Amino acid sequence: MAQTAVLDRPRTRRVLSAAERFGILPMPDLSFTPEVARETAHLYERVKHVIPAIEWPVHAPYVKAINDLKKVRNAVILAHNYQTPEIYNCVADVVGDSFALAREATKTDADVIIQGGVHFMAETSKLLNPDKVVLIPDSRAGCSLSDSITAADVRMMRRKHPGVPVAVYVNTSAEVKAEADICLTSGNAVAVVESLGAPEVMVLPDQYLAAWIATQTKVKIITWNGACEVHERFTGEEIRRLREDDPDVTVIAHPECPPDVLKEADFTGSTAKMADYIKVNKPKRVVMITECSMADNIASLSPETEFLRPCNLCPHMKRITLPKILDSLLTMQEEIVIDPAVAERARLSVERMVHLKI
Ligand code: 13P
Ligand code: SF4
Repeated sequence: MAQTAVLDRPRTRRVLSAAERFGILPMPDLSFTPEVARETAHLYERVKHVIPAIEWPVHAPYVKAINDLKKVRNAVILAHNYQTPEIYNCVADVVGDSFALAREATKTDADVIIQGGVHFMAETSKLLNPDKVVLIPDSRAGCSLSDSITAADVRMMRRKHPGVPVAVYVNTSAEVKAEADICLTSGNAVAVVESLGAPEVMVLPDQYLAAWIATQTKVKIITWNGACEVHERFTGEEIRRLREDDPDVTVIAHPECPPDVLKEADFTGSTAKMADYIKVNKPKRVVMITECSMADNIASLSPETEFLRPCNLCPHMKRITLPKILDSLLTMQEEIVIDPAVAERARLSVERMVHLKI
């Protein structure tokens, strides 16, 4: 009897991990040989303004190994504007702000996506590519905004403000996105809010991004008390001192900064919009009030502009390094896995944003 009961139990199929499906590869030779120097010389040209020649022999073998292995794995690397210059310029296939990375993630025909960025970005790529393997080189790469709100908090806000649509920043977990009507990023925030056609909209969880949106639209904005630990450290006083020292400097700031900072700025926009502003306006001297790598990454594209560099580092973005990217390609870890019930609802929020005609 007992034996029949065991045989009758439904059989569950164990899902194979990426490491099991793709296999683990041996560590390549990481010496700085003349061949490595020759094959990476054109890439060094892109970063020589920020990486001293004496340091290149440390990076170059990783750059070559990663670029070789991407072909073996049919992998692409999506890198956010805050990634270090050697990642951004030497191994990334797609670079950009959060919105561009989400959009490009829908277009790739690679089998494997490696996210050069933080955990919520890798989750967004997985939501848009449920059948692909998405890897994050260090799953501890978090985000203070993403950590500031839970799915239960969003449900509580809905009870408190019945009927008010909920737009959540892309800097949130899949569980939080699953509770929202739509996602937004700093690059499309105002347009997403206005697309909802409602007199009031909840914009969660970044209080400063929400406060900035409120200055750009007639829609009433309700928000949460989250903040980016990198951008909230800037102060209006700091910007005023900068201008006193250098009255001609152009100040451009990210909308995750507090309102007293944005009041002092000549332009406010997402990381991609900041880069576009510099390309179009060609300021003589500029200070980008955002994460440190941003200026390093775009400085070589705007040689006529001098970049002053007061900036704050994002410790989460800096967890992603060339050795960890190589390790991901060799071991196919760490793989992003999202509960299918959560993923189904979260995907709708991201897809509504991506497909919006704005
Ligand atoms: P954007 O690149 O969308 O401007 O976002 C900035 C950011 O803080 C991402 O973590
Ligand atoms: Fe999060 Fe701020 Fe770091 Fe972006 S810069 S990942 S918002 S903590």
